[in-house]
Amino acid sequence: MPSRVKPRVFVSRQLPGSGLDRLRGEAEVTVWDDELPPPYERLLEEAGRSEALITLLTDRIDPPLMDAAPRLRVVSNVAVGYDNIDVAAATQRGILVANTPGVLTETTADFAFALLMAAARRVVEGDRATHEGRWRTWHPSFLLGQDIHGATLGIVGLGAIGLALARRARAFGMRVLYHDSVRRPEAESDLNLAFVPLDELLREADFVSVHVPLTDETHHLFGRREFRLMKRTAAFINTSRGPVVDEAALHHALRSGEIAAAAIDVTEVEPLPADSPLLDLPNLIVTPHIASASVATRARMADMAIDNTLAVLRGGLPEHCVNPQAAARRP
Ligand code: GLV
Repeated sequence: MPSRVKPRVFVSRQLPGSGLDRLRGEAEVTVWDDELPPPYERLLEEAGRSEALITLLTDRIDPPLMDAAPRLRVVSNVAVGYDNIDVAAATQRGILVANTPGVLTETTADFAFALLMAAARRVVEGDRATHEGRWRTWHPSFLLGQDIHGATLGIVGLGAIGLALARRARAFGMRVLYHDSVRRPEAESDLNLAFVPLDELLREADFVSVHVPLTDETHHLFGRREFRLMKRTAAFINTSRGPVVDEAALHHALRSGEIAAAAIDVTEVEPLPADSPLLDLPNLIVTPHIASASVATRARMADMAIDNTLAVLRGGLPEHCVNPQAAARRP
């Protein structure tokens, strides 16, 4: 009896862990084996012959690509965010979109808190001073920062990661305010969080940390006006998506002293161009989008994206699907 033809899956980068071997048991797998993302033209070509794509947030999955992919049933993103995929267009075409929520929550919150602490206590500036021979003596006013214990944290976007950050902040004796489009009464009473309007949060917080998805509504949510409302001693933390912040406004706020410091893991254009004016600011820490980058979490994300893909190839729905309604539109 002829063996059944295996479905084709294109994976846009080598993934950690052993999940790809499981996938190879059930599919014809092509892995893009380069450090940099596949060029769009190559992605288009692979999409044209694949039933499934396993993608990263650096891969743009847009309507022209979907139109060139008549067999495509699922796009499985190795990320919790999926703003790189036009989900509405995928739904219209009956293409399922999957992501990796949950597994990266605690790891990302750890990193957001690490950035908060680093910005507050000027850890990176101190390290640079030591490396550059500028540690000349113990001086009572050398590299003074802000206390974390007893300070007020303002969380913008109280999803799973925002909530995990709130737990860390409470353990450090911080007062926690939050703002979101929906209230979380249970979290308010369990963790003693106060819901406040955004402007009040910006005026009151010593640290502002952002945890919203990138949508049309959150694009440039932080601009000149928002930074002007913040305390001059405040630090701004962003581990969500770069375009949530107007970078020119952030640059102005840091340079003019409207805020004291910022630490961001994401930028409007990634990677951050080497000639970006942001790189001239001593009071800004920029990390290369690594908030979820722990060994264990990246392996779990890869496994989850592979499981989401296998579920569709077996005729079901991914466990973590952002548009289950697409199934009804499948031809
Ligand atoms: C990373 O930014 C993610 O969305 O998982």
